[in-house]
Parts: sequence; C-alpha cells; structure tokens
Amino acid sequence: MRELTAVFVEACQKAAVACQPWIGKGNKEAADAAAVEAMRTVFNASTMDGRIVIGEGERDEAPMLFIGERVGTAANQAPAIDIAVDPLEGTTLCAENRPGAICVAAFAPKGEMLYAPDVYMKKIAVGPGCTLLPTDLNADIVSVAGRIAKQLGKPIDQMKVCMLQRPRHQSMMDALAAAGASMSLITDGDVVGAIRTALDKDHPASVDLYVGTGGAPEGVLAASGLSALGGQMLGQLQFTDDSQRQRARDMGVIDPDQILTADQLAGRHGILVATGVTSGELLAGVSIDGDRIRTQSMIVSQDGIQLI
Ligand code: FBP
Repeated sequence: MRELTAVFVEACQKAAVACQPWIGKGNKEAADAAAVEAMRTVFNASTMDGRIVIGEGERDEAPMLFIGERVGTAANQAPAIDIAVDPLEGTTLCAENRPGAICVAAFAPKGEMLYAPDVYMKKIAVGPGCTLLPTDLNADIVSVAGRIAKQLGKPIDQMKVCMLQRPRHQSMMDALAAAGASMSLITDGDVVGAIRTALDKDHPASVDLYVGTGGAPEGVLAASGLSALGGQMLGQLQFTDDSQRQRARDMGVIDPDQILTADQLAGRHGILVATGVTSGELLAGVSIDGDRIRTQSMIVSQDGIQLI
C-alpha cells in the first residue's frame, strides 16, 4: 500500500503544474480538465489496481476519473485499492488566482471508502483528543461547541470554528459568533478546512471545530486525512430528491441517510496526498522560475503530516 504514495504524490504534483496556465484566467472548467488529465495519466502509467470511488461525477457527465472508473495496469498482483480524487479542489480559487487551490487524492484498501454519488454532505469535524457524539451533526451547534471547548479545557470564546461562508450557514455562524467563538470563514476548500482541526494547536491555521455542508467528495477526502491523524468527523449525505437517494442505494449505500463516521467514510488505513496550486493555509503554490518548477505537497497518514 505505502509504496503507492509516490504515485499519488506524482499525480498531485503533475495536476498542480498542469493548472498553472489557468491560474487567474477565469476558466475553472479548463483548469479542472487539465488537472484531471494530468492525474489520470500518472495513475494509468502505474501498476496499481485502482477503482475511483469518489471522482469527477458519473460516467455520462465526466469523461475521465468518473466514479467507477478503473485506473492502473493492475500488473504484478497489485493490491486492489479504492481512490478518492478531487483533481482541482477550489476551482474558483484557481480561476480567480486566490489562495488555497489544491490537487488532492486519497487511497485505501478496496472496500474501505464510501462509494457514493456526487451530492452534498453535512459535516462536523474535530481534532485528536476530542470526541463527537452521533447526535452532534444535527444538534444545536453552540452546545456542541461548548462541549468540545470543555474537552479542550478552554471557554467557548476561545474556540476557533471553520466554516464555508454560505447563506445556508448564516444561522450557525450568528449563533457561534454570539456565543463568542472566533470564526474562520472560508470561501472554498473544505478539505483543508476540516483537516485544520487536526493540526498542532500552535499551527497558525489550526482550528478547533469544522462544521457545515459542502461536497460529499470533499467530505470523504477530509475524512481520510482526519482518520489518519486521529481526528473525528461525522458526515451525512444530503439529497435534493428521491432519485439521488435511490442512486446512492444503487451504488451500495445501504442507508443513504445514515450518519457516518470518518472510518465509515474513508477507512482507517487511508493515505491522503495534496499539492498546492495557489499558496494557501497549508501548502505553497507551484512556483516556476525558468525551467525550474517547485511544488509543495503533503502526505497525510498515520505517521502525521509530511511536507515534501
Ligand atoms: P470545487 O473545487 O468543485 O469548486 O469545490 C470547492 C468547494 O468550496 C468545496 O471545497 C466545497 O466542499 C464545495 O465547493 C461547496 O460547494 P458550494 O460551493 O456549492 O457551496
């Protein structure tokens, strides 16, 4: 398994470099397509026996890295793995040359990752040392934050909470701010948003709690990192209609409304890799100086976060 990490690092690096011509060009689809193609080329040149379980969407809407696609040559009795990809996480950040766009992918032994459609997910995440209750996902957010604050041995007005800045989160934002919590609002990029809960508390980007609704693919990717780092996360798929719910059932999700833990979302043995496209909280973006191209990537595993 671990020897595959190098393939994932190369895939994320090449995807990040492929996005460079598109930074600030206002064309997020082109940037995403460049990242997808670069990542897929690396995967398919490797001997892995991979199946995309979280990808660019369904086969009919995504020509490459679609959910269910097989990648790699599966040579030499390579172990079968599940793969979650978001070849360009923060397409708007890249298109508008704003901080925090990354190329990200995770893998785990076959069967460990949620095989699910590209819908929204309600999420809550905390770092190591904190415990979530299954009821926390739908409970009053101020009482949840108060309990997490107690676990961290500090008052709620010293809590840092990360959330996507969206109208759907306004009432949670207002309630937390009224309770004195300090908000770290992000415009995009909730894979990193959730993983920030598992950073050392003296890291400048560290937060105590991540909460809100974002993409389900991003939820599985964040769960992979959090699970490896000893954090906790809960996620619940959100459906706009029954056909989406049925689609999840068809893909093998037994109870589409179940509240899932990080382990149920991404397994316990996953490895997450990400490379910066534009510089952000955790990763520097790609820099090009003549022929010299520099990238920064992180490998998130049970050994912690390794920057390379
Ligand atoms: P894209 O890279 O697909 O644009 O996703 C960026 C993102 O901010 C994710 O990090 C997040 O999960 C999702 O969009 C939130 O969706 P929405 O913008 O619809 O609220």
